[in-house]
Amino acid sequence: MKKLQLLGNITPAQFLRDYWHKKPLLIRNAIPGFKPLLKFDKLAEAARLNHVESRLVTNVDGQWDMQHGPLLEVPPRTQREWTLLVQGVNLLDERADALLREFRFLPDARLDDLMVSYATDGGGVGPHFDSYDVFLLQAQGKRRWKISAQQDLSLVDGMPLKILSNFTPEEEFVLEPGDMLYLPPHYAHDGVAEGECMTYSIGFRAPSFQELGEAFLQFMADSIDLPGRYADPGLQPAKNPAEIPREMLASVTEELNKVRWDEEDVTVFFGEYMSEPKHNVFFTPPPKPLVVGRFMETAAKRGLKLSAKSLMLYRGKHVFINGESFAVNRADKIVLDVLANERRLTGEALAQASDDVLEALYTWYQDGWVELG
Ligand code: SIN
Ligand code: CO
Repeated sequence: MKKLQLLGNITPAQFLRDYWHKKPLLIRNAIPGFKPLLKFDKLAEAARLNHVESRLVTNVDGQWDMQHGPLLEVPPRTQREWTLLVQGVNLLDERADALLREFRFLPDARLDDLMVSYATDGGGVGPHFDSYDVFLLQAQGKRRWKISAQQDLSLVDGMPLKILSNFTPEEEFVLEPGDMLYLPPHYAHDGVAEGECMTYSIGFRAPSFQELGEAFLQFMADSIDLPGRYADPGLQPAKNPAEIPREMLASVTEELNKVRWDEEDVTVFFGEYMSEPKHNVFFTPPPKPLVVGRFMETAAKRGLKLSAKSLMLYRGKHVFINGESFAVNRADKIVLDVLANERRLTGEALAQASDDVLEALYTWYQDGWVELG
């Protein structure tokens, strides 16, 4: 793979080897001439929406406060020390989606979203650590980052947000538009706006094993098959009627031990789980969907693309889109893997698609998962 300016002129392989999960990387001019993708008004407008996750963080006389959206009002821009954070901006703006996809040297199953934060002078969310890797891209104005590899990650009790009790910065940088800072998980940091500023966070997904385990057991509940019913033809008279007979438990244990899963079950579970849109994501079907014939003609000319909201993954013969899975044949897999990787299909590629794939694409178009190019 080639060197990326985005990573400070090293290759993704070098970045992953030397920095990912290991140490911070400051990249000056990661995106030369970077201009913010959306203005403050658009951000404030997004924060008013029900389906957009937003937070307002203020610090008045050392007292931290956090309010969750929808935020019908934010403080005046002339007021110091407040921050507006909006998650999932990649779902609201095509260019924000394109920016997030610059990071596809990492698998889609790891990419989460683009969060935009706006702060007035002195604003920030306090010294803290995150459980995920993050790229902090300065979009507008300046922000002073202080960071620390400290092991002491104890938090101040009773705060509405995570604030480190003992933050001891080791390094300090002022980021200007286009500069970017990569931080591994659990790396202490504190970013303070110097004048009005906007910072874009490219965030990652790392499900906890507990969360995965619980979801996997639910998935397995739908697919286990344990025929028969408890029976005890050799039952002996009960001496202590409240005591569960040992033989009864042994027989139940033997049956439950028949619950098994293999790599295929894990693949289907994980693909469906990771391609499931977040609870606040709603697809917008086309207002006047074309009839199937017109759709095919138009798609042949203009191609198709995945909606920015669509999550599409695959592994082996399994294709996953927005929480659904399909086992596909070799020929269909070629077409669908291209759609998943390129997030679009040209008219020529569509010409190779089987009737089954075309039918699926038409349904996905009607559902707003796929759009005409
Ligand atoms: C921010 O952009 O204001 C905070 C981002 C972070 O520290 O994770
Ligand atoms: Co952070």
